[in-house]
Amino acid sequence: MVNSLQITDSRTQKQYTIPIENGAIRTMELRNIKVNDDDFGIMGYDPAFMNTASVKSKITYIDGDKGILRYRGYPIEQLAEESHSFLEVAYLIFHGELPTKDQLDEWRSNIMSECFIPESIATILKGFDLSSHPMGMLVSLLGALSTLYPESQNIHDPTIRMKQVYRLMGHTPTLCAMIFRHTKGLPFQEPNLQLSYSGNFLAMTFGTTTVHPVFERAMRVLLILHADHEQNCSTNVMRCIGSSLANPYAAAAGATAALWGPLHGGANEEVLKMLDEIRTIENVPAFIKEVKEGKRRLMGFGHRVYKNYDPRARVIKQLAYEVFEVTGKNPKLEIALALEKIALEDEYFIKRRLYPNVDFYSGLIYQAMGFPTNFFTVLFALGRMIGWLAQWNEHITDPEQKIARPRQVYVGYDERPYIPINQR
Ligand code: ACO
Repeated sequence: MVNSLQITDSRTQKQYTIPIENGAIRTMELRNIKVNDDDFGIMGYDPAFMNTASVKSKITYIDGDKGILRYRGYPIEQLAEESHSFLEVAYLIFHGELPTKDQLDEWRSNIMSECFIPESIATILKGFDLSSHPMGMLVSLLGALSTLYPESQNIHDPTIRMKQVYRLMGHTPTLCAMIFRHTKGLPFQEPNLQLSYSGNFLAMTFGTTTVHPVFERAMRVLLILHADHEQNCSTNVMRCIGSSLANPYAAAAGATAALWGPLHGGANEEVLKMLDEIRTIENVPAFIKEVKEGKRRLMGFGHRVYKNYDPRARVIKQLAYEVFEVTGKNPKLEIALALEKIALEDEYFIKRRLYPNVDFYSGLIYQAMGFPTNFFTVLFALGRMIGWLAQWNEHITDPEQKIARPRQVYVGYDERPYIPINQR
């Protein structure tokens, strides 16, 4: 076999030939490597999936060493700069090709007509304390949608599946805007279907009829940049929940919960808290010292896959200047730039190949546009919804997939007898 791995088991001296396909071996092949017939066979042990591919996907390509990100083959920089509609990129991510005008019109109409939310969801939202974390509310409301659409459980029916995709894409901006307004004690605003996807979201959020074109563009670009990122933590959750054939609302709620964590999408919130804490440029060196001593993490830096500048961070940094032209400069930008400069020249960060990621500059833009810090991850979820749905759809229709169920290496006790409580 030309592309294969030859393995000799030193326990038995037996030889095995394992085919290499797309640069990977099927770890199930390792199960044939046994010392005797009773042996379970070899497993792969890979905490945190550092080197395990569990899917074949055609959606997003990342080369972390070169800092490349493409959706369906199109470079992220081109999509961010040249696409004038988030829904166009969403179509591309979901269906695999850029839409014709007719296809885009139909896709937009199917999604925008789902921007209206059933009243019962508003009632649930009103039950939350005004100070509740917006992500807690979003997780809950996405899960609650499943109670309204029980037919969504029939996930093997492609028409029903598509309907839920339109609903989740249409409902999510409205839910996010309603959550924003609820935390401020403001009445909800109806969707305006004449506006773009991003424009409608901003208008519903801030209670306006029109949206500043720079803010609309910024929102669109940010949604495009966040739309998918292959098998990250939350996408893995979406696929994992989906693999049990749970409905997509349950899966999206789970993915949103995973995104909330500070090591994932919650990092954008943490970056702003960090900049607030540093307060002045003079305090930057002392903060970096603490990071290098292992006492802190420089939030918004580092990535499991990128060992180079995150291409999304480059676009966002540029976008920040465009937004600040309208809003005035966010004073925290200077601190962020100083942090980045020191970190990029410092041996600690160079050695570990730590660069700014998507979250480093996004929060500065969100804050300048009027979003509170604890709302940043909601905006990430809004952009990522299409990626989750495309990955879920790919998973459901992949004949190789089954319920996701990792193995474990058991290192606990062997069998032992129960001890009554008075003898312990
Ligand atoms: N600040 C300081 N040191 C760091 C950072 C950081 N932000 N990130 C990694 N390191 C160091 C680690 O301490 C470790 O050092 P060591 O080898 O001396 O122990 C080394 O770099 C490797 O780090 P790991 O944690 O093993 O890398 P991993 O791939 O598991 O983590 C992660 C990636 C979680 C993104 C990490 O870089 C991090 O915590 N960054 C800050 C949080 C953040 O910005 N998350 C958003 C990621 S993008 C997204 O999800 C949207």
